[in-house]
Amino acid sequence: MKERIYIKDLKNRVGDSVCVLGLVDIRRDHGKLIFLDLRDETGKVQAVALPNHTEAQEVANKLRTEWVVEVTAQVNERPPKMVKQDEMNGSIELELLSITILNESETPAIDISTDGHEIGEESRLRYRYLDLRRARLQKNIRKRYEVTKFIRDFLDAKNFIEIETPLLTKSTPEGARDYIVPSRLDNGQFYALPQSPQQFKQLLMASGFEKYFQIARCMRDEDTRGDRQPEFTQLDMEMAFPTREEILRLNEELLIDIVKVLFPEKVIQQIPFPRLTYKEAMEKYGNDRPDLREDKKDPNLLAFCWVIDFPLFEKTDTGYTFSHNPFCSPKDEYVDDVMNEKNLESIISNQYDIALNGLEIGGGSIRIHNAKVQEKILAILGHSPEAIQENFGHMLEAFKTGTPPHGGIAWGFDRLLMILLNEPNIREVIAFPKTGEGRDLMLEAPSKVSATQLIELGISIDKKA
Ligand code: AMO
Repeated sequence: MKERIYIKDLKNRVGDSVCVLGLVDIRRDHGKLIFLDLRDETGKVQAVALPNHTEAQEVANKLRTEWVVEVTAQVNERPPKMVKQDEMNGSIELELLSITILNESETPAIDISTDGHEIGEESRLRYRYLDLRRARLQKNIRKRYEVTKFIRDFLDAKNFIEIETPLLTKSTPEGARDYIVPSRLDNGQFYALPQSPQQFKQLLMASGFEKYFQIARCMRDEDTRGDRQPEFTQLDMEMAFPTREEILRLNEELLIDIVKVLFPEKVIQQIPFPRLTYKEAMEKYGNDRPDLREDKKDPNLLAFCWVIDFPLFEKTDTGYTFSHNPFCSPKDEYVDDVMNEKNLESIISNQYDIALNGLEIGGGSIRIHNAKVQEKILAILGHSPEAIQENFGHMLEAFKTGTPPHGGIAWGFDRLLMILLNEPNIREVIAFPKTGEGRDLMLEAPSKVSATQLIELGISIDKKA
């Protein structure tokens, strides 16, 4: 086989005979002439089978949309009146010399030539591998990769390192329900899938890695919405010895750079990002993720804002719960109140959230690094001494053995991309998302498992449930 030439490079090969690999995007039969639009991941080009290349024309006659081909063709300039200036390969055309069919295709179950918004989501997710072929999703998924790469390069240059943390772990209290995984070796025991890498990233601070990040998968068994998935991605980071200012500035710089370099059409309404206290946000806007856009109809306007100074505790019917997570520290001036269990509702924490156009796209805090304070807060949150030891003993031990002050943040990466890509929900920026009911319609998950698997796991299913 000749060297493969990508479709985007064909315009530099006028006069050459080349090999192109790709799919038939459209086939138009004009009697003596058969036109094919060929497509690979770099673009599209028009090709023509002329009557004088009999074999090529015979094969071209059989071709249908989405068939996979290898062609040899001569790259020709188009006659001036056929030139289409606004198309990638509008000035050239391939004269087909030979065509080999590499694979046939049934008529696709969904139309992939449109942006897909008009097609029911059930069909789109059932045939996601086809759905992903459409130009809009190709762009979204490629852009997502560019943003990921940009983040990795940016944080690497700031001496952060990426560290993977376990997926088979123990429940981390982030406020949602856990997905659990039964253990085969320890029947009746369960792993939990992480709701976030929270405890591990704090333990990495105890381990002497002062600047950690991870593009991390998180799992939360909660009701799915347009901006929520049971399985989603965070840009998670943590630093030792940070000030809040350092964390906010670093994140702000990264967000601004991503927008400037990868989304130059977007305009950030205000730099530095405005900061509101939780109290101000609630009083002025009635929520803690205010939409500060001056023109809500402008699709390119980005209004970031920090919300700071959250209360540490929220009152519930039965006691107190945390506002962010149980590892968030109180501001220094409130530590005495915590230790004396005084004025609990007026204690302000070191939590900060970041909102963009009315959505919470991230949150974090300066953490507790003192075992006594941590123990006290867990007790206030209603954990018994035994439960504290069982669930958080490792954190307390780590805090007693040289854990530096630390803090960090996690972005809802899918949410950020959804806004940057002007998509109505996060499923449009995730390659293989789940439905609103948390199902994978393509693989049909969740699904039953075999009786043997259940026996190995020591699990019996309650048929009534
Ligand atoms: P938090 O729970 O606030 O913090 O999560 C951080 C960000 O993740 C996004 N997010 C989600 N995105 C999609 N689907 C979901 N189900 C979903 N749940 C949350 C939100 C949110 O702001 N460990 C802490 C971070 C820290 O303190 O460093 C945490 O997970 O955009």
